[in-house]
Amino acid sequence: MRDSNSRQDLEEDSRSCLDRSSGIDAASYRDLFSLARNGILLCGVSKGGSCTILNANPAALRIERLSRDELVGEEFERAILGAADFGIMDLIREVNSSGVPLHISPKRHSDSRTDILRDMSVHRLNEGVVAIVYDDVSDSVDACTKLGESKPELDRLVSNLPGIAFRCKNDREWTMEVVSRGIIELTGYRPEEIIGNKELSYSDLIYAEDREMVWGLIQESFAVGDRYEIEYRIVTRSGQVKYVLERGKVVAGESGGEVFVEGFISDVTDLRVARREAEVNKEKLEATLTSTINALSRIVEIRDPYTSGHQRKVGLLAVSISRRMGLEDRLSENIRISGLLHDIGKLWIPSEILSKPGRLNYIEFEMIKEHSKLGYEVLKEIKFDFPIADYVIQHHERLNGSGYPNGLKGEEILLPARIIAVADVVEAISSHRPYRPALGIEVAIEEITSGAGTLYDRSVTRACVDLLEDGFTFE
Ligand SMILES: [Fe+2]
Repeated sequence: MRDSNSRQDLEEDSRSCLDRSSGIDAASYRDLFSLARNGILLCGVSKGGSCTILNANPAALRIERLSRDELVGEEFERAILGAADFGIMDLIREVNSSGVPLHISPKRHSDSRTDILRDMSVHRLNEGVVAIVYDDVSDSVDACTKLGESKPELDRLVSNLPGIAFRCKNDREWTMEVVSRGIIELTGYRPEEIIGNKELSYSDLIYAEDREMVWGLIQESFAVGDRYEIEYRIVTRSGQVKYVLERGKVVAGESGGEVFVEGFISDVTDLRVARREAEVNKEKLEATLTSTINALSRIVEIRDPYTSGHQRKVGLLAVSISRRMGLEDRLSENIRISGLLHDIGKLWIPSEILSKPGRLNYIEFEMIKEHSKLGYEVLKEIKFDFPIADYVIQHHERLNGSGYPNGLKGEEILLPARIIAVADVVEAISSHRPYRPALGIEVAIEEITSGAGTLYDRSVTRACVDLLEDGFTFE
C-alpha cells in the first residue's frame, strides 16, 4: 500500500480530472461523488494497461466492505477480489482506448469475507482515467430468482383453487384478461372461451336478472374505492343455475387510465341451500314453539273458563307496555309470551277452587298462591331466549315486599315481571269474574295509580295509564 501523501496526491489527481471534465463546479462533482448510491471507482490506466484505483466513493467502500486505505492507491485487480475472473480488466483497457462506455452483465464473487454480485459499467473520463460505476445486485436478483422459482407453484395453486381467480376490464361484458382453470368446474366453460370474449363474455354467464345489480354494485364500490362482495346467479354450460359469491376490487391498470376488476368467484350454491334449509327449519321450530305456547295457554283457560282469554289479554297489554317503554323487540316479544303463560301453574290447582264464586278462605288462597311457583317449575325446563320462568314466578311480587312467593322488593323484581304484574291487575279488574261484574278501566287506572311506587313500578304504571288513556283495548 502507498503512504498517505501518495494517496492524497492520487485523490487530488482524480479530483482535478473530474473538475476538468465539464463546466460543473468542482464542489458539485464532489458532492455527487460522495452522495451517489452506486459505487464509483476512479481508476488511472497506464500505457502498459495496469489499472490503479485513484479514488473510491463511500458507496464503493460499503459494497466492498473495505476502508479507503485498503482501496485507494491499490492495483484494481488486487483490491477488487474476483476482478481477474470476469474479464473486467480487458473491458477497462478497451473503454480507455475507445472512449465508448461498456456494461458487463452481473458477475458474482464469493469468498469467506464477501458475497457480491457486481453489476458494472465502465466510462472513460479522460485519457488514462476511467470511472467504474457499479452496484451489488445480490438482493434484487435473489428476490427475482425466488419469484421465478415460486411462479409455477403459484400458478398451479391458483388453477387448483375451487373457484375462479380473475382479472377483467371494468366494462359491461366483464371482458376477461386472466381466468383461472377453476372456471371449468364452476361453469363448464374453458378459460380460452371466455378470455377476450372469444366465444362468450362473462356477462353472458350471469343470470340475466342479476346483471344490472352486479354492474351497479361494482361501480358503487369503485366510486368509493372500496372492496366489494356480491352474491348472484350464473347459468352454466349445461343450463344449471348456480349461486356464486364474488369478492374483488376495481384497480387501476399499470399504465394508468384504464381500470380493471380483480377478484375471486366461488360457488355458494350448497351453502345457500343449507342456509335456506336452516331458515325454514328455524321458522318451523318457531311456529311449533308458538303453537305449543298457545296450546299451553289454552289448557289453563279450558280448566278455568271464567278467566277465558285472561292470559292472552295480559300478554297483549304487557307487550304494549314494553313497546311504550321502548324495550327492544325481542325482549318485548318474550314479555308477551310470559303474559301468555304466567298462570300456567294453575293447572295444578283444583278447578273447584279456581272457579269458586265468592271469596276464597285462607287455605284456598294459600293453594292459589302456589301457582306462580308451579309455573316456574314447568317453564324453567324450556329453553327460551329470556328467563321467562323467572318472570312468571315473580308476577305476584310487589315493590314494597308484600307480594308472593318470595316477598321480593323493588329492583329485586325483574322489570318484565313488574310489567306483567301491572298488566295482570288491569286485565283482572277490567274483566268479568264469576263473583263480580267487570269493574272497568277507570277502576283499574285508579288501582295502579294509587299503588304506583308502593306496589307497582312507577314507569310501568305511567306507560300503562298512557296506553289506556290513548284508547288501548284488549281486542
Ligand atoms: Fe297469576
